[in-house]
Parts: sequence; C-alpha cells; structure tokens
Amino acid sequence: MLILGIETSCDETSVALLEHRGGNALEVRANLIASQIEAHQLFGGVVPEIASRKHLEAVNPLLRLVKEQTDLSDWRELDLIGVTSGPGLSGALLVGVAAAKALSLATRVPLRGVNHIKGHICSTFLERPDLPLPMLCLVVSGGHSDLVLVRDFHTFERLGRTRDDAVGEGFDKVARSLGLPLPGGPNLERAAATVQKTGLRFTPSNMEPSFDFSFSGLKTAATQAFKKGQGSPQEVAYAFQTSALTQLARQTKRAIEQFQPRTLGLCGGVAANGALRAKMAEAAGDLEFVVPTPILCTDNAAMIGAAAFFEARDHEFPSFSIDDLGFEARSVWPIDAASQPVP
Ligand code: KG4
Ligand code: ZN
Repeated sequence: MLILGIETSCDETSVALLEHRGGNALEVRANLIASQIEAHQLFGGVVPEIASRKHLEAVNPLLRLVKEQTDLSDWRELDLIGVTSGPGLSGALLVGVAAAKALSLATRVPLRGVNHIKGHICSTFLERPDLPLPMLCLVVSGGHSDLVLVRDFHTFERLGRTRDDAVGEGFDKVARSLGLPLPGGPNLERAAATVQKTGLRFTPSNMEPSFDFSFSGLKTAATQAFKKGQGSPQEVAYAFQTSALTQLARQTKRAIEQFQPRTLGLCGGVAANGALRAKMAEAAGDLEFVVPTPILCTDNAAMIGAAAFFEARDHEFPSFSIDDLGFEARSVWPIDAASQPVP
C-alpha cells in the first residue's frame, strides 16, 4: 500500500511517499523538503505572498523527484493521497490542495485533506508505530502550542493551548529582536547553548489551574531586557529559552498527573530543540517518551501521509469519489475540531 503526502501550509514545500508495512508501521520511502528560508530572510519573517509563489515553483519538481527516487512507474500505483488542508497560510495551503486535487482527479487515486496538527502528532507513530495509548502529546510549532490527549487515532482532546503567541513564534520574534538571522528558533538555541550561567531570569507565566500557555509577556520581557542592556544576546536567549521550556514542562507534568497517559509525545518544529527534548524526557519519568527525529519534527509531508493513512485505514480505504475533492483550504482548524469520526 503506497501513500503520497503533500505539505505546503507555511514555508516548506514537501512531498513524501510512504509504504504501509503492516499494523501501524509506515516506511518513509522519500520525504523531500524544499525550504524557502532564503527568500524570506531579507524580510525577517515569512511573507505569505512569497510563500505561495515559492510553493508553486517547487511542488511539481518535488512530485517528479519523489517519483524518480522511489522508482514509481505510474502515479496510479498509489493507494491514497493526503494533503494538508489546514491550518496554515491560505494562499500557501491552496497550492498543495490544488496540486493534490489535480493528481487525484487525473489518476482516480482517493484523496484526503488532513489537519496539519494531526500530521505533527502522527509523526510520533512514524517514530514508534506501537506506542502505547493514550498519549499526552505536546505540539509545539511556529503557529501552535497545544497539549493534546490522544486516546486513539481519531480522538484528540485539546487540554491546553496558547492564549497568545505560539512558543515557536516567541523563539522567532525574540531571535529577531536579538539580531539573530533566520531561522530564528534554531539560531536562538545555538546562542543559548554558549551560556553556562547568567543572573538574568524571566519568571515563567503561571496559567494554573488551566493547561494553557502564554509566551507573549516573556517575549516582551526578553526584548526589553536586551534593549535596556541587561544581558548579551546569548544571555537573553538563554534566559528566554529556560523560562519558555520551564513553562512547557510544568504544564505537561501537571497534565501527566491528572490524565495518567501511557506515553508522552513531543512533536512540531520546536521539538527539534535539544534542550526541550531533554527536559521533556525528564518530565516523562517512567512513561514511554517519543519524539521524532528532527527532520520529522519540522514541517514535512511524511507526517501528512501518515495522518491520511490512519484516517483512511479505519474507513477501509475509500475508493475514488469526486465528492471527496470538495474540501477547501482552511486557515483556521483547531485540532479538537479535526477529531471527528471518519466520514
Ligand atoms: O512545525 P514547524 O516546522 O512549522 C509550523 O507548523 O509552524 O515549526 C516551525 C517553528 C519555528 O517557529 C521555528 O523557529 C521553530 O519551529 N524551531 C525551533 C527549533 N527548530 C525549529 N525552535 C527552537 N529551537 C529549535 N531548534
Ligand atoms: Zn507545523
């Protein structure tokens, strides 16, 4: 069984081919990612219009490359196509959705539009197909900071979310104010790693009794501290990262105590952060701890193919229907709203 994934929700164009190996096991045969980072570098952040144009340039060449690299002789060999249909930048999403619909229509391979956050969560199953459920999953990316209880492949209960900025957005904005180049998150992590100790501290936001997060106050405090000369860029990066990760770990530990999951999962772009990976491994204690390899943490199409597969599998793999092409790009689509029985 072969599944094609397509992802264009933000600033990476990605196409992947997965092969089902039985049970929950999916082999990633190809997972190509074209990053647009250089095109946005000049502007200090992702420019939606540029993102859409870059996706347009990249999507067909990537499709061709995946076909070549996996020795696929005909697209009709596919059993399923999955594409990110939200949440994300509308114009960017539209490029992937249009490409996927065209391919599905031309080949009559069934198509599913999937939720990007669900994709991130499914990356944990690519890493560990037999992970014990329920899983408490911390999804941390440029657009989201969610604590999600995954009871099965279709039931996602959002326990907490950010009330303002996503944690990755905080990393990116603080990195920018410290004069660090794009990509902000990884460069801030690198700057922080050069510091052993500093007197600079930012108190983590306390959102109890909820499981929500807040990073906007911390972002402002870090930016102001740097402007006032209270620390070097490296020290401010270290103090910001420490405070943000402490908040994430505290809320995660509280949710573990209350909901008693069997696995702790960590996913999304910020899960590539080494300090966060170490902190969450510690928070997991005796639980199984799963965090995908970094390339499956940041945006990629393998996770989208996986999400499409798990949805379609329990629907006994629908055959092609033109009615299934009616879905649209959805810029807003919370994970709990994506948690519905497969139609
Ligand atoms: O999941 P992702 O690739 O795209 C979205 O869905 O948003 O996540 C991108 C986010 C960016 O904010 C980026 O700065 C952050 O993940 N990120 C990191 C690291 N690598 C990526 N943040 C902190 N440390 C990292 N090593
Ligand atoms: Zn993402």
